[in-house]
Order: sequence, then structure tokens, then C-alpha cells
Amino acid sequence: MCGIVGFIGKKDASSILIEGLSKLEYRGYDSAGVAIFDGERINVTKCKGRLVNLENKLQEEPLKGTLGIGHTRWATHGEPSDLNAHPHSNEDETISVVHNGIIENYIHLREWLISKGYKFVSETDTEVIPNLIDYFYNGDLVDAVMKAVAKMEGSYAIGVICSKEPDKLVAVRKDSPLIVGLGKGEFFIASDIPAILNHTRDIYLLNDKEFVVMTKDGVKLLSQEGEEIKRDIYHVTWNADAAEKGGFEHFMIKEIHEQPKAIKDTMTSRVMPGKPITLDKITITKEQIENIDKVYIVACGTAYHAGIVGKYVIEKLARIPVEVEVASEFRYRDPIINERTLMIVVSQSGETADTLAALREAKANGARVIAVTNVVGSSVSREADDVLYTWAGPEIAVASTKAYVTQLIAMYIIALFFAENKKTLSESEIEEIKEAMLILPEKAKEVLENKETIQKFASKTYMHKDMFFLGRGLDYAVAMEGSLKLKEISYIHSEAYAGGELKHGPIALIEKGTIVIAGATQEKLYDKMVSNIKEVKTRGANVLGIAFEGHTEIEKTVDSVLYIPEVNDVLSPVISVIPLQLLSYYMAIQKGCDVDKPRNLAKSVTVE
Ligand code: G6P
Repeated sequence: MCGIVGFIGKKDASSILIEGLSKLEYRGYDSAGVAIFDGERINVTKCKGRLVNLENKLQEEPLKGTLGIGHTRWATHGEPSDLNAHPHSNEDETISVVHNGIIENYIHLREWLISKGYKFVSETDTEVIPNLIDYFYNGDLVDAVMKAVAKMEGSYAIGVICSKEPDKLVAVRKDSPLIVGLGKGEFFIASDIPAILNHTRDIYLLNDKEFVVMTKDGVKLLSQEGEEIKRDIYHVTWNADAAEKGGFEHFMIKEIHEQPKAIKDTMTSRVMPGKPITLDKITITKEQIENIDKVYIVACGTAYHAGIVGKYVIEKLARIPVEVEVASEFRYRDPIINERTLMIVVSQSGETADTLAALREAKANGARVIAVTNVVGSSVSREADDVLYTWAGPEIAVASTKAYVTQLIAMYIIALFFAENKKTLSESEIEEIKEAMLILPEKAKEVLENKETIQKFASKTYMHKDMFFLGRGLDYAVAMEGSLKLKEISYIHSEAYAGGELKHGPIALIEKGTIVIAGATQEKLYDKMVSNIKEVKTRGANVLGIAFEGHTEIEKTVDSVLYIPEVNDVLSPVISVIPLQLLSYYMAIQKGCDVDKPRNLAKSVTVE
């Protein structure tokens, strides 16, 4: 959802900015641009399309300088175009700004600035920022940025340079991510850590409304009152390679293959045979758990689908009522929340605007919040009462895969933790599930070894325009995720339906040759699911069943079967989602789609 980067030091800014932007392209790739100070003036190069277009332009006409800011855009206000690309500047081009977020009162600010004689050239909300800074500029850039920010409503992470103060980069964030990289005689700002990891591992994590003032000599953090803030340095321990493709053709397929490790890492030191579930950073007490009368799981996209599995398992294992909701709906519908409510927010990035807003709404109404997130130091991790990190490692592909399976593991861990505390399961029942969890990494590997079957199925069916995913219980939850993956990266229209619901309408769409993927892993629901498969078969559907190895009776009902290793029924989503991820990947490859950067999407949605 737009990526920003900034550099000040002694090296060539242009190449450092481009390298940083290449690591942030997952956030948006409608257009890209840089502004670099050459010792006298700020020069801006920007253009529509992927970063490579900007690189080509810069090769033809390089920009020299050691201070600069860069941006990769996911359009909100104004179509993707050269003109709407960032950086944006004031009229005399002395102030340049990159922005991630939305300035909600920009129309009002724009009219106000126009009444003061300012001119605007783009359709963006961002363009008000350099002009506001210009309006307040009186020889002190930091002061002008502070005054401009005080007028702005909405969300923003911004980087600002000004040719009148050539050794300075000023930045600030509110509700959009921004980190500061601390090198030796060189400093960085970026929307995310991978953008600067080739240069430094030492960073400052910023809170809302904290200002950054960097020169070649150092970095100062200031509060909105202008007071200096002391901040501990956060040292990044993971490897830059983790954010590289490592021999795979795409990030998505690499991340699919990393799932066995991600599952294992997320369980490490938490799920151990013969020992209670250990959650180091979770301080919720037994009494507080007993007091919970309602759990809300709130999230967006794939994380929401992990939440649906969470509902099944928390209700089944810990016997607490759970509601799952998409964050953008939850935040505006005046939900019933009180001190007995527990909210679990699930967010890979920890920065999704709607999820963060839902978390704040819940806290303001007295609920306790547990964040399940993959990014240490992210906004949700800092604002929640407790955090359970998913140790998936950096996820770069827009389509989420390894983050999803680790979010599922987090749901099981929380459910078991509650079950232990509430004694809703016996010790032996808990042990049985834990043992079954600990072999999941091996089982996930087995699915990946069998990927040719899916590849073949994709090569035969990728021309279809519609597909249906069916399932009951946990298979239905997985069907939703499978359907989302297919839409996201292969642009094939698909629907996920609960097996029993199909006959209430969508079955009208089934005709000869319609592809239906039917999950049938849940023993208790197996016969019911077979009946639903027969209903679509009778109407001409071509059905691929997904079943546990050894359950060969399904062959009588479907056209083809994909067998997956048997696991405890309650854990099946961790394994059964993998073929669906692979299916969407191979479909997209067959269709020649840009797998890692699907059209219109962004990995991190920091605007509502
Ligand atoms: C975007 C991404 C999805 C992701 C969703 C929620 O839509 O494209 O892959 O599931 O945001 O993101 P989060 O970081 O909150 O999990």
C-alpha cells in the first residue's frame, strides 16, 4: 500500500533508493519515483508502471546526489499516471515529499491552499503536503513539517527533503508504517525492514506522531511537542536472504515451500509433549480467561480466513463463543464489546488499517486484545495487550501462504491454551492434539513432494472461467481461502460454498464441465459431503476431491482425487490448504499472470 524509502549519507542515493524500492514493490507497483538533491536543487524522476520503468529512465538520465526519497505507489486518489506518481513537490520544487496513507481532509486543505494562491497539478491527496509545508516554511523545515502535520487528518508516513536545508531528511508517521535505519554515517527511512537490510540491521521503530530528523551525522526523534525522544535500537536478527527468492522462480512458490519450516518455527518452545502450552509474551491470567464470555476474531483477507478456522477450533476445544468478522465491517457497526470480551486480531503485516482500527475500537471499549502477527514491532503488536508472533519469516508475495498456515497454528495454540486453563479437554485429549501438531511439518513436506498431480490438473483446467470450491466444517473454511487464492493471482472467478448451502442458489450455475474442488477430510461430515458432490456431479460438474490417504471410497463419486496425508481432523486445514495454494499458483503460471504482483492488489493495505 505504497512503499517509501529515504536516504542520507555519502553514497549515491539513486541506486540505494531503487534497491530499497525493489524490496517494497510488494506494497504497490502502479508507479514509482525518486527525488534527489544534487547539491543545488531537487531533481525528480517518476513514471507510471513498474519500478523497472523508473530504472530505465534513470539509466538514460541519471540523478546524482547523496540525499533522496523514493516511492512505489498503490493508487488511491488519482489514477496511476506519471503526474500522480510520487514524489510530489511545491510549485518552485524546493520541497519534495513521498507519502504512504490517505490525507482524509485533503479537499478542504487543497481549497484552502488554492485560496492562498497555491496551484495543484495532480489528482492526489499527497500534493497538499509539500504545499502545506511550503506555506508554513519560515527557514525551519522541522517546524514547517510539524505545523503541516498538525493540519492533516488521516494516515501518513512521509519523507520530506528541502533544497533550502540540504543536509536534512524529515519524516513522520501516523497509522502507516515507517522505520528508521541506522548505518555508519548513513541513515534510512523505509516502510519496511527488507528495504534497508542490505545496509544495516539496526533500526528504530517509530510510534504514531513521532518525527525523525536525520542528517549525515545522526538521527533525532522528536515528539509532536518538539521534545527529543530516546529510543532503544532494535537489532534485526533474520537474514536478508529470507527476503530473496533463493533459486525459486517466484516468491509465492518459495514461500509455499517454506511452510513446513514456518509451521515448525511457530510451534517451537510453545507446543511441547508433556508440557503445558507455553506463551512467553502472553500475560492473560487464568481468571481473565475464565471471565471471557465472547471472543471476536477480526482480520482482513487471508488472515480473516485463518480467523474462521480459529472460530471452529476455539469453540470446539475451549467452548467459548467466537464471532469472526472482517475488520472493515466490525469497526463501523457498533459491536457489543465490554471487559468480558476478548479480541484476537490476526494480521500478517500488523499494519492493516482496518484491523488496527478495530483493535483500537475494542480497547477503547474495555476489551482485552491478543494480536497474532508476523511482524515484530508492527503497530498491532505494539498496541495489543498480548502478542503471539507467527514465525513465518518475511512474506513478500502478495498472495499470503506461509503466513496463513502459521496463523492457523496460532489459532490452535490459543485454543489449546484456553482449553488447558478452562479444563474443557482432558490432559490426554490435549496431548493427542499436540502430538498431531508436532508432525504437521513432516506432513506438509509430503504434500509438497506430490505437487506434480496439482500441476497436471492446473494445466488441464486453467482455461476455465469459473470454479467452485466446496466443503463442510473446516473444509469450508479452507475452501474460502482456496477460492481467494485463485481469484487473487490467476484472475479466475471462483466461489466457495458450504456443501449444504449450494442447493440454495449457486447450484443453478453448475453445468457440464464446471470445475468443482471438493474438500472431504472431515470424518463426521464425510457422507454429507459425498451427497453434495453427487448433487453437482449429476449436473455435469467435473469434480476434484481432496481426501486423506486411504479414504479411497471417494473415488466412486469424483472425477479425480488428490490424496493428502492423514492428520487429526481438527488440524486438516494446515495440510489441505497446500494443494489449493499450489493450484492457484500453477493456474496463474499457465495463464502467464504476474504471480508475485497480481493486478490491483497490494500486500499491505494501510489505507481503509
Ligand atoms: C491484503 C493482502 C492479503 C492479506 C490482507 C490482510 O489484502 O493482499 O494477502 O491477507 O491484506 O493483511 P494482513 O497483513 O493484515 O494479514
